[in-house]
Amino acid sequence: MTDIDYGSYLRLEELLALQSPQSQPEHPDELLFIVVHQASELWFKVLRHEFDTLIAALQQFDTMRALLSVQRVNALTEIISQQLAALDTLPPQRFAQFRGYLGSSSGSQSAQFRAIEATAGLRDAHFLQTISEHGAPPAEVQAALERPTLQSLVLALLAHEQVELASLYTGPGPTPLFLLVEGLLEFEQRFARWRFLHVQLVERIIGPGTGGTGGTLGAKYLSRTVSQKFFPELWAVRSAFYGR
Ligand code: HEM
Repeated sequence: MTDIDYGSYLRLEELLALQSPQSQPEHPDELLFIVVHQASELWFKVLRHEFDTLIAALQQFDTMRALLSVQRVNALTEIISQQLAALDTLPPQRFAQFRGYLGSSSGSQSAQFRAIEATAGLRDAHFLQTISEHGAPPAEVQAALERPTLQSLVLALLAHEQVELASLYTGPGPTPLFLLVEGLLEFEQRFARWRFLHVQLVERIIGPGTGGTGGTLGAKYLSRTVSQKFFPELWAVRSAFYGR
């Protein structure tokens, strides 16, 4: 076996050569802009990988393994949100100095982000239109669309255990299934928090009325996505405790 050290194990030479600022002369803030996006994509990769574990656990009706996996999914989602704070330090006039070099590139072209949304369960007309805007969806998004949604998998697990969703909230005490369902709801909440922090970032840097490099209305378009739901049934069950 060849000797492996820190640099070769992590392929640091290649990794650290992957940032290519486009501005001429190079803008001092463009490296941060690239790294936050690249790091987010790396975390998206880990999140998608963890979704595979979660889906396998749900399909095997293994509640405890699914619970552990949801906890990791939630930790990852939190990390992805927190990275946006680094870009809050990018003042609008400085972003304007290199934005022109980004061309038409936009986060809305992130295939991994769309795959995460599809895996979690978005299937509404707006989402299907967004992913097909530039032709057939990328392979990873298509594959994610063909999987059962997380909500359908958790409902199948409940059916397998002969437990009604509502009874998790009315039964004698918290069970692992209750914690799992609440963990998924926590994921939805944390993901929506990324969406909200991202809208705020966009408003802070380019203003509420500026269109995006991807051709949308910018913050106006993004703020509408904050209320999208992966798990409508997990939200709806809560209203049972309240009158109209
Ligand atoms: C200077 C910071 C940023 C600005 C000004 C910005 C701006 C925008 C705008 C205006 C959009 C709407 C689509 C468009 O027309 O382009 C968008 C979408 C998006 N951005 Fe950002 N963004 C920033 C940072 C980030 C970061 C760090 C990520 C992390 C990967 C990210 C990921 C995304 C994603 C995934 C979408 C699609 C969201 C959706 O359609 O629901 N953005 N961004």
